[in-house]
Amino acid sequence: MYKIAVAGTGYVGLVAGVTFAEVGHQVACVDIDEEKVKVMKSGVSPIYEEGLEKLMQKNYAAGKLDYTTDYKTAYKDVDAIFIGVGTPEQADGSANLSYIATVARQIAETIENDCLVVVKSTVPIGTNDKVEQFIQDFLVHDVRVEVASNPEFLAQGSAVHDTLHAARIIIGAESKWAEDRLMSIYEPFKLPIVSVNRRSAEMIKYASNDFLALKISYMNDIANLCELVGADVQDVAKGMSFDERIGSKFLNAGIGFGGSCFPKDTKALENLARQNGYDLKTVKAAIDVNKGQKTLLYKKASKRLITFSGLKVAVLGLTFKPGTDDLREAASLENIPLLLEQGADIYAFDPVGAKNFEKVHPEGPNGKGTITYVSNVEQALQDANVCFVFTEWEEVKKVTPKKYKNLMRTPLVYDGRNIHDVLEMEKAGVEYHSVGRPSTSLAGKKESKNHDFQNTRY
Ligand code: UDX
Repeated sequence: MYKIAVAGTGYVGLVAGVTFAEVGHQVACVDIDEEKVKVMKSGVSPIYEEGLEKLMQKNYAAGKLDYTTDYKTAYKDVDAIFIGVGTPEQADGSANLSYIATVARQIAETIENDCLVVVKSTVPIGTNDKVEQFIQDFLVHDVRVEVASNPEFLAQGSAVHDTLHAARIIIGAESKWAEDRLMSIYEPFKLPIVSVNRRSAEMIKYASNDFLALKISYMNDIANLCELVGADVQDVAKGMSFDERIGSKFLNAGIGFGGSCFPKDTKALENLARQNGYDLKTVKAAIDVNKGQKTLLYKKASKRLITFSGLKVAVLGLTFKPGTDDLREAASLENIPLLLEQGADIYAFDPVGAKNFEKVHPEGPNGKGTITYVSNVEQALQDANVCFVFTEWEEVKKVTPKKYKNLMRTPLVYDGRNIHDVLEMEKAGVEYHSVGRPSTSLAGKKESKNHDFQNTRY
């Protein structure tokens, strides 16, 4: 059992802290936000993440997990401090490291024991070296302190599961002492460990995330071409997926990737390359494709409807993906302002994201358009003139073609996540447009010429 402190209680820090306690370590989670600490002590998770709250309550009650704003006490005599604070994107695409620097300085001024400092946050290559130097510069007591890199690969919505069953643990250490300590902290997880140097560990995180972002953008690029030549991207993905070298995951075309990682990490790596005089063409292309993708269906619908003024628009899903209440870089954030600007009356359904969305968009700009949050899909669809699917929540996937047909004033659906069957929608009499697949033939002669629906097998 190790005594551990975790700095920052966002997705990365909190999930790390809770799972360390779960496997037997003694953990103190540190955050500067007093209100948040109070909420966590009362057994409530500040983020929506399946299974997290239960583990928080269990380990807090068992005395293995605590939350505090008092970093001095928390850091003083621990074996390891994990840094999981944010590294938000700056205007030029680079990562803002000021939160990391603040924590590093606090650590240097506080620790009275030999301590391993572990950077979990995603940071540009070379940051671990700087953090170590920074801590050495400000160190008050005569103790051994080293920095190791340990990037986090959890996905939101399955964070606890991903951490307890991670595909691999990456350890970036520069000494045997640091490597051994981090390895034994992770020993109870019984997971494969890849031990490399710090810079390689930092790069593994970016290279992995950007590769996945690239995979999605590639499929989106192919999807857009599929539409022009009358192919179906879902069939294409299925055919590709049987090749083990390609794999079956992250081949879903749609309205682009969002979230706190892919958009930020692609820009950060591209920026890092540029600073080093290198043109990282592949990652640049992934960013570029994603830019156009998010408003693709809005643009199509705009052409079809000419104006959204006075129309009832059903929006199904607000978050960047299902299973989370996170809105960062979500397609809804780009599309809804465009719809409101045109005077649309939006009825939005999201099982957990509405509250957060309301904070960003309390009303339409300049009093144009309205937005009403509803508690089920039926209320959103009732009498709607058009529907946009932005997030593939289970509740949304379950909507039958008949429901669209019966509830909507005009059954016209733009599906950004390709969740419905084109043929079923066609049969039910719904005009249906998705990404990289044929539209239903109800969509009018012009489109059905390119998308020969009859020739597509399902
Ligand atoms: C991602 C990585 O998966 C994770 O390993 C890393 O630690 C953080 O970034 P996350 O952002 O939580 O996790 O979500 P993820 O499930 O990867 O999805 C990201 C975005 O890509 C979402 O907007 C999702 O809708 C989109 N996506 C994903 C697609 O458009 N198509 C796909 O096939 C997969």
